[in-house]
Amino acid sequence: MAIISRCTASTLKDAATSLRSGNLVAFPTETVYGLGVDATNKDAVAHLYQVKGRPSDHPLIVHISSMANLDKWAREIPEYAIKLARTFWPGPMTLILPRTDLAKDFLTGNQDSIGIRVTSHPLASALFTEFEDQGGLGVAAPSANRFGKVSPTTADAVVEELSEYLSSTDLILDGGPCQVGVESTIINCTKDIPEILRPGAITANMISDVTGVQVEQLITGSNKPKIKAPGLVQSHYAPRAKVFLSTRPNPGDGFIALSEIPTPPGAIRLASPKNNKEYAQLLYQALRLADTKQLPNVIVIPPTGDDLAIAICDRLEKCAYKS
Ligand code: TXA
Ligand code: MG
Repeated sequence: MAIISRCTASTLKDAATSLRSGNLVAFPTETVYGLGVDATNKDAVAHLYQVKGRPSDHPLIVHISSMANLDKWAREIPEYAIKLARTFWPGPMTLILPRTDLAKDFLTGNQDSIGIRVTSHPLASALFTEFEDQGGLGVAAPSANRFGKVSPTTADAVVEELSEYLSSTDLILDGGPCQVGVESTIINCTKDIPEILRPGAITANMISDVTGVQVEQLITGSNKPKIKAPGLVQSHYAPRAKVFLSTRPNPGDGFIALSEIPTPPGAIRLASPKNNKEYAQLLYQALRLADTKQLPNVIVIPPTGDDLAIAICDRLEKCAYKS
């Protein structure tokens, strides 16, 4: 596997060609790093599931360069979904829509819907444009971590997660740290009104404002969505260290909280974000740091609010230690 840290037009062209040949390419997005393959290549997708260690009934998101290509993959697109796409794409949002025949069972885990995303990251965007210029139709990509583990927000974290599983023809494109830091908001657009399946930087209020429909905040645990959704397995987004929420750390435990909260005596501070936006940016790196430092426990004081705090708390609840 090669890591490309100064991506030029020529290296992106080669990366797109490599995708077209069935190889894996990891790339940055504004949310987290993705691990991409040609979404129409069944063997490449099977290989991707193997590298991730992911069960084959977990559907993949298809990444396209712009909304113009949406109807290749999705049909019966409701008016509210068009409004969302026009407003928040390119950006940290994935829409779940009824699929066309192009979206095969091997992508959707046999579901009749497909997840589609247009990222705003310039590097990924240029890669997908080049890929489509070479005849590609979409890049299927989950987060570039092993199944159940913490999503990578830097190229180094991708190396840490996947180097032993990638082969010499696979690539990692280094675009620096991700700006959002938690995965995209996933919105189910297969019903009369939008439904949040995974909270992210596009919040319930933002969705309500654009669609004119009051959208429910996804509260983890209590109102689980009916269709197969992310993170509904135990211990998702989890480091090796045990994560505890809102308890007092013992000396030697890792500690993550907003900067205004002082470090308890003996605790090892892993991040001091100034606000919720920075909290999302730093969270996954801080959880990885706990493992690098081989800490047995991490105590996290979750943020509050109805902004990115909702997404952060959703991930924290999923990675929290369940005895
Ligand atoms: O920010 C993101 O969304 C990142 C970047 C790389 O784009 N991708 C990402 O992919 O987080 P992944 O595969 O790690 O998480 C996507 C989740 C999966 O857990 C899957 O269950 C859900 O989206 N999903 C995909 N297609 C779906 C569908 N048709 N119906 C319901 N859930 C779906
Ligand atoms: Mg993931």
